[in-house]
Amino acid sequence: MGLFSLFTREIAIDLGTANTVILHDNKVVVDEPSIIAIDSRTKSVVAVGKKALMMEGKTSGEIYTVRPLRNGVIADFQPTELMLREFIKMTNTKHSLITPAMKMVICIPSGITEVEERAVRESAEQAGAKEVRLIYEPMAAAIGSGIDVLDANGNMIIDIGGGTSEVAVIALGSIASKKSVQVAGDRLNTDIKEFMRREHNLDIGIPTAEQIKINVGAAITQLDNPPADYEVYGRDLVHGIPRSIMINYQEVATALNNSINAIEDAVMQALNVTPPELSADIFKTGIYLAGGGSLLRGLDKRINKITQLPVHVVEDPLRAVARGTAIALKNLDKFESLTKY
Ligand SMILES: Nc1ncnc2c1ncn2[C@@H]1O[C@H](COP(=O)(O)OP(=O)(O)O)[C@@H](O)[C@H]1O
Ligand SMILES: [Mg+2]
Repeated sequence: MGLFSLFTREIAIDLGTANTVILHDNKVVVDEPSIIAIDSRTKSVVAVGKKALMMEGKTSGEIYTVRPLRNGVIADFQPTELMLREFIKMTNTKHSLITPAMKMVICIPSGITEVEERAVRESAEQAGAKEVRLIYEPMAAAIGSGIDVLDANGNMIIDIGGGTSEVAVIALGSIASKKSVQVAGDRLNTDIKEFMRREHNLDIGIPTAEQIKINVGAAITQLDNPPADYEVYGRDLVHGIPRSIMINYQEVATALNNSINAIEDAVMQALNVTPPELSADIFKTGIYLAGGGSLLRGLDKRINKITQLPVHVVEDPLRAVARGTAIALKNLDKFESLTKY
């Protein structure tokens, strides 16, 4: 290890609405939900990540939890900074006495405004970064999915995260067409919550809705390998007491139908504005699905049905963006034009 690398730490950050993933030396050093618990009296951090997630929906009094990046934008500057700072601290596993200078590549949603971009950059600098580069999410997702983004051959990538679904066509190192909608994992959770209330008179919290989605979520009502029915606990809206019921994937598919339609619309719109030469490429290469939302059962089939194109869910889709960000960091000379200061 050279002297330089002793004092400079290079990290790649996927600052997602749902999860923050940080890679250092090709290793995942942080993989935590993007949530923070704060004490309103002292404005100090009570917990971040998984620990803060366990408190969600259960806090009272002075302690509250925030997801600072809801909807893919920085709604709250201060909690974002606090959260980022805590996550960056976690990367200092050697507990070295000297704080190394840090070089970071941070992945940001492509629909972010300049003000929000500055907020991310400043948060990183406040957290100790000496050099910060930003990369857009679809680009990072594509690189992390093994797509040769600098090639002339066009590829379509869909990244379905917590707050946004981003559809992009990438060729020659740039985004040729894109479409972003604020319908993604979070919306699916509220769909499930509303469905349970409407159809079953059962009030559930968002964490429970998330568990339903992961255990019995589906985008289609005919699955080849259906998951077993799932027991849901909540509060009965008529009697006000705790109750449980069994839910099957077909019900969840019905609950999610409108939101999946909205994602499909975004894909169709992106295809409609894609230049013809790139369209021809996509006809052959198909569509790549990344982000946690791509794990929804049958979503690939459904997108295949409407577009008539081959659809591939990329390997380890929850970490594709972080992987791509790390590759960009390692090969900054090659990917220089894809990142920005
Ligand atoms: N097995 C699964 N099925 C459906 N959705 C999932 C699954 N696993 C994770 N998700 C969803 O993926 C989203 C998080 O994906 P991620 O790519 O980390 O988002 P972001 O980039 O916004 O942080 C969450 O909304 C989560 O509920
Ligand atoms: Mg993401």
